Amino acid sequence: MKRVVARAPGRINVIGEHTDYNQGYAMPIALAQATTVEFAPDDSTSIRLRSSEEGAGVTFDIHAVPGEVDGWSAYPAGAVWALAEAGHPVVGGSMTVTSEVPIGAGLSSSAALECAVLLAMNAATGVSLDRLELARIAQRGENDFVGAPTGLMDQLASIYGEEDRALLIDFDTSAVTPVSFDPAAHGCSLVVINSNAAHHHSTGEYAARRASCARAARALGVDSLREVQGEDLERTLARVDGDTDRRRVRHILTENERVLDCAHAMAEGDLNRVGELMTRSHVSMRDDFEITTAHIDLIAESAVRHGALGARLTGGGFGGCVIALVPAGDVDALVDAVRGDLRGAEYPAPDVFLARAGDGARPTPVSG
Ligand code: GLA
Repeated sequence: MKRVVARAPGRINVIGEHTDYNQGYAMPIALAQATTVEFAPDDSTSIRLRSSEEGAGVTFDIHAVPGEVDGWSAYPAGAVWALAEAGHPVVGGSMTVTSEVPIGAGLSSSAALECAVLLAMNAATGVSLDRLELARIAQRGENDFVGAPTGLMDQLASIYGEEDRALLIDFDTSAVTPVSFDPAAHGCSLVVINSNAAHHHSTGEYAARRASCARAARALGVDSLREVQGEDLERTLARVDGDTDRRRVRHILTENERVLDCAHAMAEGDLNRVGELMTRSHVSMRDDFEITTAHIDLIAESAVRHGALGARLTGGGFGGCVIALVPAGDVDALVDAVRGDLRGAEYPAPDVFLARAGDGARPTPVSG
């Protein structure tokens, strides 16, 4: 059987956090950094997996069920399981994973891995799936095999990514609408500041936020918070029990509005407004959704104090990265200043890179 190669990028979310599992809106971009899977299929029923990041190789059975594989190989095993569950063929072979997406930084290294594995497997078996179906299969593997109760944003971003475009996603209809987003064309850079504090959102806090939103939806008599979007906010909040759940709902409903405003501002090329919405999103995540940390808040506040048009946490929270929209000529001085503030507060040095919206996941032709 023929050797195949597939690549799938990580993502950053420009705005719209924790809205995906509330059937709301978000606006991620795919990164240039990607995970590549090289797959040499054979007639066996196991996959021998090697990774540039993980040292020793591991082997799993292509018929493994949830609970039988753990560690990082649960992501590829979960993707293969979900593909078979959806009725598509899976085969054994050797897989080599190479990743440029920082792991545990909230840049969706997991979704990149799942999507690259799925594309490689489909290329090997000659199956071609609709992009939405592919994203849902990857998510199912992560939810039901790995056991992380995440939404669909990361997989959609990795699969639908487009150069110089952000993806306005409506999670109610699963519609993905690319919106022009090329900060460089407006003299700006999108700076990613990785705190190097690993996030762990498959653990309690992410699930607790989901539970809060679900509880509030029940109190409001709706299936998802999306159904009360656009209604009078104060009146909606008055029908939710408890201050904590009320603040969670306020974040989701105001965040959805910010996403739509941001899509509008991007389409108009109004990056000042995009920056302002990013900062307001951060404040909402800090005060209402409570998914930031003192470390992350310091980075976001420092970036804005030193000239960013706006800055916010990106991803699930509790660590990971801050993104900042910065006039291109100010980037170096700003990064130095943020580094200085972090040193002063005795936090570890961040890793910093400039991001631009890149292409989505795809199998790559192999010669020979
Ligand atoms: C993680 C999840 C996504 C989404 C974000 C928060 O990245 O995988 O589904 O919920 O957190 O916006």
